Amino acid sequence: MRWLPAAAALLLVMPLVWMAWSSRIPGTYDPAAMGYADFGGGSRHDHVWSHRNIAVSTLTADPSRPADVSVEFHTAQHGHRFTVNGSSPGPVLRATVGDLIEVRLVNDGVRRGTTLHWHGIDVPNAMDGVAGVTQDAVPMGGSFTYRWVADRAGTYWYHAHQVSHEQVRGGLLGAVVISPAATDTVVDEPVVLHRYGSRQTVNGRVGQVASSAKPGDTVRVRVINTDNALTSAWVSGAAYRLVAVDGTDLNEPGLATGKRVQITAGGRADLLVTVPSAGARVSFAGGRSLLLGGLPGVPAVRQPKEVVDLLGYGAPQATDLARATPDRTFRYDIGRRPGFVGGKPGWWWTINGRRFPDVPMFMVTPGDVVHMRISNHSGRSHPMHLHGHRLLVLARNGTASSGSPWWTDSLEVADGTTYDVAFVADNPGIWMDHCHNLPHAAQGLVAHLMYMGVRSSYRISGRNQPE
Ligand code: C2O
Ligand code: CU
Repeated sequence: MRWLPAAAALLLVMPLVWMAWSSRIPGTYDPAAMGYADFGGGSRHDHVWSHRNIAVSTLTADPSRPADVSVEFHTAQHGHRFTVNGSSPGPVLRATVGDLIEVRLVNDGVRRGTTLHWHGIDVPNAMDGVAGVTQDAVPMGGSFTYRWVADRAGTYWYHAHQVSHEQVRGGLLGAVVISPAATDTVVDEPVVLHRYGSRQTVNGRVGQVASSAKPGDTVRVRVINTDNALTSAWVSGAAYRLVAVDGTDLNEPGLATGKRVQITAGGRADLLVTVPSAGARVSFAGGRSLLLGGLPGVPAVRQPKEVVDLLGYGAPQATDLARATPDRTFRYDIGRRPGFVGGKPGWWWTINGRRFPDVPMFMVTPGDVVHMRISNHSGRSHPMHLHGHRLLVLARNGTASSGSPWWTDSLEVADGTTYDVAFVADNPGIWMDHCHNLPHAAQGLVAHLMYMGVRSSYRISGRNQPE
């Protein structure tokens, strides 16, 4: 009977071995066929769209239109750090609304290959820069030309979407500023917040950074959170307003003075400050600040406790989308459960109760009004980002949005929180819908929005690792 304990142990271990074995991720995924299709209560066999065969690579900007802005971005790697044209953050990409922008990416030295994704900009699908979904990663020595029309003014950013949890953390990123057609007298100050190891930086520098703004100037501070977690910004020495979130202006924003603004990972917040004669200071979590109106500047103040709550900030304004009846309704329910992903045991994220790669494809046809309920009971917060579309927040935990229309592409969904959002499916393609705490995405917190009839010839495989 000496074999009994061994047999019992084997009986215990066998199911685990089987679970690990059965969870092994196949080497290659077709992004148009992975996981399971979720039709959100809408039609499954749309007679026009489901029989089409539209290749992602054909979803481009007008190829015959000449570019208004044309730049070349060279990417390089130095250990765990990455640069664009020799610096991190890379150059600010500036254009005016309506411009056709052409960026030629030349990968001089990123060993695993790279891409550029235009976070928050609703580019045509072939220009979205997701390795294995909308293109192949650009190998060392290779190049790829992105062309898209800047159709909305606002603050955005670009970053790698190949092994993004390493390349973005290592600094392969930069700001995008799309100015409105009518030039106003506002001084523009993009602020890229990024943490390089333990160095918390503002535009690549630690501590205090001085702006060129002078007393009397009105400054639009375009704060971009390129890190994996929520951050905060606040102003001292002057009154201020939060005038835009994720590239969209807010309607009649009130004074935010004495409060702080939270910025979701991947998100942007534009603060408007008129600089008094004594100057003003914009502070950011992590001991960083931007001085407006010259040195020595006003003293730093502690982070305010009170937060600007976007659910009720600014004045309401009717939108067609908020009134429209949805054609499809999806849920994106984030949980966590022990098990195996890719043969590895862990405490893995789940989407609608299932683990990667068994994740939903949210199926739509062009023109659909889509409602999505994003809820989180995973014990952690998740900054959720949908590519190629902007979301309108309808409600949080059942309380309707009562302020300015709140459009977002990077929405902080705290543990225990539910958001109802709406969007119009007006940009055909295959679009990632993932957590922008990028290690979470690499751990499987990714799903996608899938237009019926669209096909991808790219594959998520050894060479293409979008997250
Ligand atoms: Cu800014 Cu899919 O990412
Ligand atoms: Cu997350």
